[in-house]
Amino acid sequence: MCGIFAVSGSQTNAGAVVIAGLKKLEYRGYDSWGVAIRREGKVVLEKQVGKISEAQHEFEPATEAFGHSRWATHGGVTVQNSHPHRYGRVTLAHNGIFENFASHKERIGTGTFQSETDSEVIAALINEHVEKGCDPFEAIQNTASQIKGRFAIILCIDGVDGIFAARRGSPLLVGRSADATYIASDIPAFLEHTSTVNYLDDDEIVWIRKDNVLFADLKTGKSIEKRNIDVPWSEEEAQKGDFKHFMLKEIFEQKETISRAINQPSELMKSAAEVLAQCNGVYFLACGTAHKVAATAEYFFADISGRKINVVAASEMPTFESFINEKTALIAISQSGETADVLEILERGKKKGAKIVSITNVEMSSVARISDVVLPLNAGVEKAVASTKAATAQMAICFLLAHADAELRGRGIFNVGRELLRETSTAINELLNPRYAEHIHAVAEKIVDRNNMFIIGRGSLYPMALEAAIKIQEVSYIHAQGFAAGELKHGPIALIENRVPCLVLGDDPETISNAMELKARGAKVIGISPTRADVFDEWIRVPDCDGAQSIATLVPVQILAYQLAILRGLDPDMPRNLAKSVTVK
Ligand code: AGP
Ligand code: GLU
Repeated sequence: MCGIFAVSGSQTNAGAVVIAGLKKLEYRGYDSWGVAIRREGKVVLEKQVGKISEAQHEFEPATEAFGHSRWATHGGVTVQNSHPHRYGRVTLAHNGIFENFASHKERIGTGTFQSETDSEVIAALINEHVEKGCDPFEAIQNTASQIKGRFAIILCIDGVDGIFAARRGSPLLVGRSADATYIASDIPAFLEHTSTVNYLDDDEIVWIRKDNVLFADLKTGKSIEKRNIDVPWSEEEAQKGDFKHFMLKEIFEQKETISRAINQPSELMKSAAEVLAQCNGVYFLACGTAHKVAATAEYFFADISGRKINVVAASEMPTFESFINEKTALIAISQSGETADVLEILERGKKKGAKIVSITNVEMSSVARISDVVLPLNAGVEKAVASTKAATAQMAICFLLAHADAELRGRGIFNVGRELLRETSTAINELLNPRYAEHIHAVAEKIVDRNNMFIIGRGSLYPMALEAAIKIQEVSYIHAQGFAAGELKHGPIALIENRVPCLVLGDDPETISNAMELKARGAKVIGISPTRADVFDEWIRVPDCDGAQSIATLVPVQILAYQLAILRGLDPDMPRNLAKSVTVK
């Protein structure tokens, strides 16, 4: 997970450039940080526990530096465990997990290590090969062949100019400006310097020096030519602007992002629908919020095109992998396009001949690059750990895809779906104003002291109840659980006691009956729906958006989660224990 960032060029403040870049990657990990600068042939390390956003360190002038913002997997959050690690002549930062590190650590000598991390063992292995006389590429190649697991590494070797980086399964890209070269885990790190990018693929290595960038195959050592790609993201877009938090900014951006998401070329939607039509098994794969989006898609497809799709949390897919063959369509939903659980299934599925469609916000991500058809979210950078604008954009695309599928099967008209989404987007645009947010704030004030919350919904609002629970849990740390409204009476209703807040998504008669069952047991009932029912103690209005109701309903839920976090004095952009992009399993 972690953020990696390096610079080599003619600027003399490399340490400060790296700190500034890491601050923009903090959403990837924020336990601790470290920076290595190279000065007169020596490496100077600065490592600290805490958020990189609070880093104040002054560095000596240098033209080369790299750093890391950590999300710990092996070893506690301490200065020693922070990256970069130094072993012999090698200084290295790592993103990922070195699964078989223990046996190598023991062989090399446990007592020779400063940290408890798996990462330091990678530095030791490279050092071992360098000491045996291997050139840097050979040393990194040999080490890569010893590593089981996914990794992105960045390193320098005493006595050798420049910085090396290599990847297998974790993201890394190179930014090119007129006077410097950058290596980063994600684009925002260098967006203020350049938007020209070379993407590193799995099993590739890059060596950057002042005026020279060399790409090579990690297995054969052969050099590779890379295409310069201009990314359409702007530095301004990646900033908070007048908003206090990225989460709130991104919630408000839904005024435009839904209409940007549905602006997909009809031909592209058609080619994605054709993949479904040609296959006889369709699996939607995703994690977390994206998985709840997939669960809503199951309702969309059933209602709109009459297709039964399979929705599986990517981490649970291994059990069903034997069903994947050349007639299977794997539909991956992933904001980052780098989620390890998703990527691994796609990689194995591809080998079995499955067709892959991805719905992602990062068009050159690993998920996108392995796909046969990519449906881009066009949502712009999403930085808050809690996914908001990406989720509604993903839902809009799933809704469109179901309509494209319906048209292909002679059961519906694609443009009818698009028109309904346009109307939904307009309705959300009208809803998102400061007065609406203030009303939700007032509701949040009434429940902020509660430790448990329940959410119910029916039909496509059931997955939204599950998503509401994720949003509330991750940013406010309130224990929240979502249920299918009709399932309450089969067990969960035993949890209802006096004053427990229950969010009721929707106002259909059955759901209102379930709300009354809650109320009869003392719950505080908060309705989120187009009309107000008598049973509601509080009511948050959402526009009536017909088949796209789940998309509109999610917006006030996101605002409520945000307000609860603020009222509890928490930072919703960086919830504890989490990271934006989950590149480990
Ligand atoms: C969303 O609020 C969560 N932080 C998380 O569940 C996220 O949706 C999940 O990790 C999947 O990420 P992806 O969309 O980048 O694959
Ligand atoms: N496994 C390494 C550690 O625990 C790297 C984790 C990361 O990707 O930040 O330090």
